[in-house]
Formats: sequence, C-alpha cells, structure tokens
Amino acid sequence: MVVHVALTGATGFLGLRLLRRLLAAHRSVTVLVHAGSGDALHRITRFFELTGAPEEFTTGLTGRLRVVETELERPRLGLSGRAFQELADGLGAIWHSAGSINLEGDLPELRRTNVEGTRHVLELAAAGRGRPVVHHVSTAFVAGRRREGVAYEDELDDAYGFENAYEHSKYEAEKLIHAWSREHARPVVVLRPSVLVTDLPPHAELPAHPLQVIERIMRDARRTAGTGGQGRDGRPRVRLVGHPHGRLNLLQVEHAAEVMVRLAGRTPSGGVDTYHVVHDRDVPVPTVVTLLERLTSVAIELVATEPDDPSPLESLLRFYPGLTAYLAHRRRFDDTRVRTLLGPSAASGRVDLGYLCSGLATRDRVPAGPAAPAPTGFPSGHHP
Ligand SMILES: NC(=O)c1ccc[n+]([C@@H]2O[C@H](COP(=O)([O-])OP(=O)(O)OC[C@H]3O[C@@H](n4cnc5c(N)ncnc54)[C@H](OP(=O)(O)O)[C@@H]3O)[C@@H](O)[C@H]2O)c1
Repeated sequence: MVVHVALTGATGFLGLRLLRRLLAAHRSVTVLVHAGSGDALHRITRFFELTGAPEEFTTGLTGRLRVVETELERPRLGLSGRAFQELADGLGAIWHSAGSINLEGDLPELRRTNVEGTRHVLELAAAGRGRPVVHHVSTAFVAGRRREGVAYEDELDDAYGFENAYEHSKYEAEKLIHAWSREHARPVVVLRPSVLVTDLPPHAELPAHPLQVIERIMRDARRTAGTGGQGRDGRPRVRLVGHPHGRLNLLQVEHAAEVMVRLAGRTPSGGVDTYHVVHDRDVPVPTVVTLLERLTSVAIELVATEPDDPSPLESLLRFYPGLTAYLAHRRRFDDTRVRTLLGPSAASGRVDLGYLCSGLATRDRVPAGPAAPAPTGFPSGHHP
C-alpha cells in the first residue's frame, strides 16, 4: 500500500535531513511549509545541491514535492475548510518537525508555535479519513531541569521544572499528544532527539544549528559587554556555572534522521511510543568549553555558583539560560527502546572536538563562506 506522507518543518536543520530520508522511501512527499517565510522549494533544492545530491535528483524535486503553505499557529493550519479536509484525507502519515527552537524565547511565544502548532497538526491527523499516523519530533530536553541521574523514555513530568521556556513548551506539546492519543484512540510516535550537530561548515543558505546559535550569542555578548577580567593567555576570562564532570548528549543530525525514519517503519503499539534518539556516548562538558573558547577567544572557567562580582560580559551571559544551564548537566538519557528495536546499528560515529569544530568552521578548519560544502552521506536512489 502506498502511504502518502506530509512533513512540517522541511526547511529546518533536522527537517531537511528527514526529507532526504523520506524521499528515499517515498515517491512523493507533501511539505507543509511556513507561509510567508521565503521560497521553501528553492531552499530545499539548495540544501540538496549543497550536500552533493545528483543533478537528476534536484531537478526532479519539483515533481516529487507538493508544497502547501501553512501557518502552524492558526486553526486548520491557516487553510480553508475544504483545502484542510482534502489535505487530511490524502495522508497516511504526518511528520511534525516544525517548531521554534529559540532557547531565549518567552513561553507565550513558544507556546504559539510549539504547543498550538502541535494542536493544529493533531487536528489534521484527526480529520484524515485514512487515520494518518503522527510522528512528532520532540526533544530529550523535555526532561527539564533534572541535571543528574537517568531520564527514561517513558517519563514525562514537570517535577524538576525547566531550564528555559523552550523545554517547557515542548513538554506541554507532549502532554497534548498523550491526551489526544487517549481521546482519539490513535497511535503517535514521539521522537526525542538530543542536541543535533553536523560537521558541515556553516553556509548562508543552510539553516543554522544550535551550536552556531550559541556561538552567535557569545560573540554578540562579548561585543556588547566588552571584555572584563583577564584570564589565561591574556584572553578575557568568563566564569560560567558548570560541572567539570558534566556531559552533554550531541548527535549527528543525519544519523538522527536515519534512526527516526527507521523507527517509523515499526508497527506502532496503538498508544504513544516515545524514543530517545541520542548518542551512546556523551560529550564531556570540558570539550564543549574548549570549543566555545576557540570560537569566541575567551578563557572559560567553570565555577560552582554565580560569582558575586560578575563582569559585564558574565552579567549578560546570565540572561541566556539556554546557553549556560547545560554546562551543569550530568544526566544520561536511557534509550533502551531504540536499542532493543534497532540493535547496534542505532550507534553512530564519534562526536569529538574535531567534528564540532568542522561544523562551526573554527579558525583551524574550513572557513565559512559561499563555497559549497563537501558532500556528505547522500543516500542513492529512492524506491516508491
Ligand atoms: N536542532 C536540534 O538540536 C533539535 C534537538 C532536539 C529537538 N529538536 C526539534 O526538532 C524539530 C526541528 O528542529 P530544527 O533543528 O529543524 O529547527 P529549525 O532549523 O529552526 O527549523 C524549524 C522549522 O520549523 C518551521 N517553522 C518554524 N515556525 C513555523 C511556523 N510558525 N509555521 C510553520 N513552520 C514553522 C521552519 O520554517 P521556516 O524555516 O520557513 O521558518 C523550519 O522549517 C523541532 O521541533 C525541535 O524542537 C531539534
């Protein structure tokens, strides 16, 4: 049976990789793009060109992608009643990857995109005659402010609070999914990736990834606040609250997309099936610190508590809970369900300093610029 698939967020950092995998398995895909945010088909095509897709693949995209402009925040995704019903009836599966990953956003703003947006995608699924299966992209960080111990795939609670409004909004979206699944007796697959990274150097025509955003915040803060105290090698010193034995889970975005699409191939249980899509080895916080130091030419000192005499730069960075809170994390994400289903093939290659530097084009690596990055892992062909 041919299952027709729709994908939200196809122009995003993860969405583009999901689209690549979905196009390897389906002859055509409907992309529900962000109305008014620029020529989605062009952006998608550029991504495939820049990542080494064969020309016949990119020229064939127009015939394989059905582009529907949608507004996540609005009922019926901003479509007319008729267009919404026709769209819903044509679908066998919906992948919901669109969202705001603004770690500095406030809760009302993030709720509009991440919670209301999910509500409207669920309405689409409820309306579809073919009862399309929903694959919802969440985040492992719904675990919130739990900084130690183990976060399990079946857990979903707000007992620890949240590091930022982004985490909170993604948690609320998952709660909504559980309620919807119970009410409609419908399966939903919830995919919870950790922080997604790439070794593809930044490029003006490719979406930014989370570490790039962090780099930008630190650079801007440094420019605004000046320098402050001197640290090692005469570089400005920045004291950040963090744990020397802290660790962060970072996963290659291409691998995450592959794992997600493979998980989607399993028969859903009927309720909500949640999977941690994470790396089997965490990156030590000191590695992340070294990366940030290289990127921003500051000397970072991890401290246990906020200093009483913060420099202007340190004061400014305190306003970025999305940036600094994670340096204190020591928890681990349990992904037993994924490993039980996919076995050792769920493991991916190493994410080390060299890999991360490449994806951020630090000075000892390929510089950012208009040149096309080297092709990475383009799967050959597709089957209907
Ligand atoms: N990146 C990570 O490390 C990471 C980690 C864990 C979970 N996730 C989750 O993965 C999903 C995708 O993240 P990403 O990295 O691909 O983010 P991204 O690069 O910022 O892409 C976001 C996507 O959502 C679309 N979008 C945003 N607001 C929209 C709106 N109001 N209406 C319709 N579409 C809208 C964007 O379209 P435009 O580009 O046209 O605006 C874009 O396609 C998100 O749900 C995120 O929470 C990401």
